[in-house]
Amino acid sequence: MTDPQLVLAERVQQALATAFGQEYAAEDPLIRPSQFADYQANVAMSLAKRLRRAPRDVAQEIAANLDLPGTVEVSGPGFLNLRFHDAWIAAEAGAMLTDDRLGVARELPSKTVVVDYSAPNAAKEMHVGHLRTTVVGDALVRVQEHLGNRVVRQNHLGDWGTPFGMLIEHLLDMGEEAAVAQLEAGNGNDYYQAARAKFDADPEFNRRARARVVTLQAEDPETMRLWRIFMDATVRYFNKVYTQLGVTLTDDDIAGESMYNHALAQVCDELQERGIAEISDGALCVFPPGFTGREGAPLPFMIRKSDGGYGYATTDMATMRYRVQDLKADRILYVIGVTQSLHLQMLFASAKMAGWLPDHVSAEHIQIGSVLGSDGKMFKTRAGKSIKLLELLDEAETRAAAVLADRDYDDATRAEIAHAVGMGAVKYADLSVSHDSEYVFDFDRMLALTGNTGPYLQYATARIRSIFRRGEYDPAASYGPIVITHPAERALALALLGFGPVVAEVGARNEPHRLCAYLFDLASAFTTFFENCPVLKADSEEERQSRLALSQLTLRVLLQGLDLLGITAPERM
Ligand code: ARG
Repeated sequence: MTDPQLVLAERVQQALATAFGQEYAAEDPLIRPSQFADYQANVAMSLAKRLRRAPRDVAQEIAANLDLPGTVEVSGPGFLNLRFHDAWIAAEAGAMLTDDRLGVARELPSKTVVVDYSAPNAAKEMHVGHLRTTVVGDALVRVQEHLGNRVVRQNHLGDWGTPFGMLIEHLLDMGEEAAVAQLEAGNGNDYYQAARAKFDADPEFNRRARARVVTLQAEDPETMRLWRIFMDATVRYFNKVYTQLGVTLTDDDIAGESMYNHALAQVCDELQERGIAEISDGALCVFPPGFTGREGAPLPFMIRKSDGGYGYATTDMATMRYRVQDLKADRILYVIGVTQSLHLQMLFASAKMAGWLPDHVSAEHIQIGSVLGSDGKMFKTRAGKSIKLLELLDEAETRAAAVLADRDYDDATRAEIAHAVGMGAVKYADLSVSHDSEYVFDFDRMLALTGNTGPYLQYATARIRSIFRRGEYDPAASYGPIVITHPAERALALALLGFGPVVAEVGARNEPHRLCAYLFDLASAFTTFFENCPVLKADSEEERQSRLALSQLTLRVLLQGLDLLGITAPERM
């Protein structure tokens, strides 16, 4: 199978070379989707000046030299309208029927892609912001693996630092069992606030908490035992969230801040010795070029505070070195809130100065936009109380069950469908808008069965399955060949050919919303096809075979696409 746009690009480039000389063979033909044809090429307009000729002339000459599995027409000031022959589209879609990968090419050579995502903080509650970095990160991971790359998941938990002194002392006050129960249940916020209140009000507790920070830094065995108890209980809660969401993260992927504790002093010493970092106002700082603050003063990336303490920046420097040197990353994807963008830019620049981020490794910040409540503010609290993630996910399932209330299912089936639809709705809402834009968390909108939603796409797959069920056709058997007789068949087949290219693009650009938009368009093309082209009641066996093949291919692409987004589709809905 071939990417239609690539086919056109190559053919136009050949025509450019024949018409104007070999030096034009690598010109970007500027292929774009078109309202008037399948695609258009706009290169004639961009070349006209250089060739000192009228754009329309240039277009005519390209058209005259163009060898296409289709037709070309010059229009307007010099657009080339390109249209494939039906037979070409049918043959390409036919080839997809026997391709397990549905036209998705493996990336060669395969790369090592480190993906830093989820990363909730143990000292605070996991909130919807972390939900989004988790969902987007997991989709990127799935896409990279499907492209044949080696993926290393890194859950950079916030599991270290001064707050742990008071958290451990609070654990002792509460008793291990009660503390563990509270943390496991996801009440980390209440726990944190209680510890904080004592820290502020009770001098004796405050003294103990500070002393505990010292024994924690020294890795005193008893303190480490208590820290482990706290972390294990907290991680058990995170895992409940991951399991309910169907996220691929496991305990093996945990690589929290604590993991780098040992490296921090050495990182600072080395950078200072090599002159990469310098003391400024008592703190050790890197001043990466190009970062300035007020009045043009160079902005410090502070790796050791004046009191000798290390921070987020120090850990991230150590982390970068580990990912490049030990994990052998070719790409490092940081799926982190947009608010941390300056931190990451300075991290990347500082790591480059240190030689820890060589040119052949690309560090990429996938900026995650905020999730807002209906009041347009950060979606964190409701009626003064913070929203617990697990309760939010449960609510999504309850509401999904309500949407399907009129369906006649037994309780177990209904619960299974409600789970798939509820999680699909929440995840798709995170994925379908570009990852760096904000959006409003709105159950009614995300659970709608029409529009660009998860449930709509899930429903589309269930509908196709029901066609096969009603006709008593096995959805896994082979059908075909594909023959195009109606414009809706043609549009559907052409849309199917776009799957491979869009998955490659999502992998290259880290933009799952493109896959969402593609799947939504595909499902819409299927609807139009289905309204115009009877499948079970086709006029001839040949036509029925072709339409069953198109339906089956659409089902496979939708299921594969949803799977790459981390969304399962129930058999019935
Ligand atoms: N724990 C951080 C937070 O919740 C995110 C960590 C992201 N990863 C990193 N390498 N800085 O904001």
